[in-house]
Amino acid sequence: MDQDKKTMMENLRKDCLSCERCGLCRGRHNVVFGTGNPEADVMFVGEGPGEQEDLRGEPFVGKAGILLDKMLTAVDLDRNKNIYIANIVKCRPPQNRDPLPEEQDMCIGWLRRQFAIMRPKIIVCLGRIAACKMISPDIRIKRDHGKLFRKGGVIMMPVLHPAALLRNPSDKPGAFEDFLRLQQLIEESIKAQS
Ligand code: URA
Repeated sequence: MDQDKKTMMENLRKDCLSCERCGLCRGRHNVVFGTGNPEADVMFVGEGPGEQEDLRGEPFVGKAGILLDKMLTAVDLDRNKNIYIANIVKCRPPQNRDPLPEEQDMCIGWLRRQFAIMRPKIIVCLGRIAACKMISPDIRIKRDHGKLFRKGGVIMMPVLHPAALLRNPSDKPGAFEDFLRLQQLIEESIKAQS
């Protein structure tokens, strides 16, 4: 079963690499499909690749990604072990603009299929764009970060985007509290499993 998830995700990745569903494909160096452990219980979803991610084909590898990795490490999460990270759109929007609603709609099918393979218990939405697409368009990230939402049996938590934390360092303590809450939530869900 677990081997199946890895194989299914790899097959899906191969399909995604040739995607031309929207205009973002024309400017890309690489499709940024996603990375991590498809057997994990926790999926992180960002908005879309930036420059470094586009060049390397991996999500969250620029400055925001370095901060994200530090926050993950502090709560015993690791992109190579116990989480999976993907984005709403798989190709970089020009000049890092927000992905347009139609680009999100064209791309979201890939994320849905990643979700269907993984069947995570918890989804963490990194920033406004991911939270509005995954949870509800009514989400206001400054107001709602750290709250828990339940959708189709999955717990969803919006958090502040690490790039926003780099711009507004005074928001870091609040963002870190959300990660501590997430750690507690994961521990509880593991206990409930055993
Ligand atoms: N910001 C995102 O939302 N996703 C990435 O992969 C990188 C930066």
